[in-house]
Amino acid sequence: MGLLSSPPNTGTLMRIPLPVLDWTEVLQQRHRYRSWVWRRPGLNVAGIARQVAVEAVADWRLSPMADDVALCVGELMGNALTHGQSGGWPLPVSLGLRYFPTCCLFVEVGDTSTAAPLLTAPGRDSDPAEALLMDGRGLMIVQRIADHLWWRQLSGLGKTVYARLDTPRYFEPLTGGGDCG
Ligand SMILES: Nc1ncnc2c1ncn2[C@@H]1O[C@H](COP(=O)(O)OP(=O)(O)O)[C@@H](O)[C@H]1O
Ligand SMILES: [Mg+2]
Repeated sequence: MGLLSSPPNTGTLMRIPLPVLDWTEVLQQRHRYRSWVWRRPGLNVAGIARQVAVEAVADWRLSPMADDVALCVGELMGNALTHGQSGGWPLPVSLGLRYFPTCCLFVEVGDTSTAAPLLTAPGRDSDPAEALLMDGRGLMIVQRIADHLWWRQLSGLGKTVYARLDTPRYFEPLTGGGDCG
């Protein structure tokens, strides 16, 4: 894993390509998987994607994660539609949810472009609050919610952007209480 190239400097804000991850090892672990492809996505596809994701999360009894999953799906799907299209619109986009019961949930959003998602990194002398007012905040928000954020170029057309949410932090053991009698 590592940076693909030196970050382009845009004023006080830096744009850093997301890291890449070795994928073959991950797929060997047992997990549940659901996926959707929209071949000719309409304007409402981000909303539909959020909805099907929340339903899947409920089916897997992960409802405490629903808000964060919906936010990640909405931002990444928005990016797939606005930045991930090469050569016209509409082009296919996809959503995958991969649940590893031992650890985590992956949100996977695919599009047809091979351009790298660029994470906005506030420069040393810039105000982080100011950075949130500018373009380029979607991936920053997803990065803060997710435990890991990366992307992968596909051997055919396009790429997938991944956000991993670790399940334990949503299911803290109950504390407090005490003897009843
Ligand atoms: N799926 C994608 N395909 C290609 N480029 C992307 C994709 N997602 C993000 N990017 C690049 O990363 C930048 C930052 O994305 P983001 O933080 O969501 O901000 P915004 O969408 O407001 O530009 C985008 O401006 C774009 O250059
Ligand atoms: Mg965005």
